[in-house]
Amino acid sequence: MTARLIDGKGIAETLREEVKQNVIKRASQGLPAPGLATVIVGDNPASKVYVRMKHKACQEAGILSIGHALPAETSQEEVEKLIGELNNDPKIHGILIQLPLSAGLDEESVLNAIKLRKDVDGFHPINIGRLAQKGREPLFTPATPSGIMYLLEEAGAQLEGAKAVVLGRSNIVGMPVSLLLIKANSTVTICHSRTIDIPSLTRKADVLIAAVGIPEFVRGDWIKPGAIVIDVGVNRVEDETRKRGYRLVGDVAFEEAREVAGAITPVPGGVGPMTIAMLLRNTLRAARLADEDIVV
Ligand code: GUN
Repeated sequence: MTARLIDGKGIAETLREEVKQNVIKRASQGLPAPGLATVIVGDNPASKVYVRMKHKACQEAGILSIGHALPAETSQEEVEKLIGELNNDPKIHGILIQLPLSAGLDEESVLNAIKLRKDVDGFHPINIGRLAQKGREPLFTPATPSGIMYLLEEAGAQLEGAKAVVLGRSNIVGMPVSLLLIKANSTVTICHSRTIDIPSLTRKADVLIAAVGIPEFVRGDWIKPGAIVIDVGVNRVEDETRKRGYRLVGDVAFEEAREVAGAITPVPGGVGPMTIAMLLRNTLRAARLADEDIVV
């Protein structure tokens, strides 16, 4: 059996076009363009690439985006002062603090400083807390986990009652996607660096999410035949046959996995593009919240 490819790139393009059309409609109604502020502290090269991609996507969708790049030595007070200014700026509907912050900064305190209705990344402690609780809904959910849920829906996954295994427990992907899967009534097992015998758990998974950051960690024989596999990994591995000297691989050994899985996301072109599409959607939503002047 060869797995169906879940085309994150194509799905994300459709979503981005939808956002763009909505932004055009807003303009025709005299409503302002949604505005996103990004904040990056320090010079993590991967973060810089991600933030640049987010700005480019905003520009293409007609979303105003303003970047703030602060030096690594910036104090806690200075970062939070900037967030305070962005909270009060009516042109800015969403605030994204690119993670990780530079060493020495208190991440929770920084995220807590964002006005809830501008928390387009969904990492404010109240939004994450609501995500973790039964009967409560966050105002925004983090972009990558939302993108994964969207792909699962597009792939026709039956989440209710499904056995889902999540590899990785990060604040950005593993934990929030596990919480979303629980909200979708899946039975969720979270595996991490101390889990014993991970393959015995993944082999039972109807839905497998790999978010560990280890190239080709998941082998073909770890996968239940017909399972839906979502590969969140974006790992560089040396490859002298490529002009740039490396290629990107996921956390799943793709060629092995596609012979077993029912559906699988490629890397690149799977989850990655969905992260940006979901951020744009959240920013549009934040602008709508501002229109309605909903007090949260
Ligand atoms: N760092 C890695 N992924 C993300 C993300 O989705 N949002 C933010 N803010 N930081 C990240």
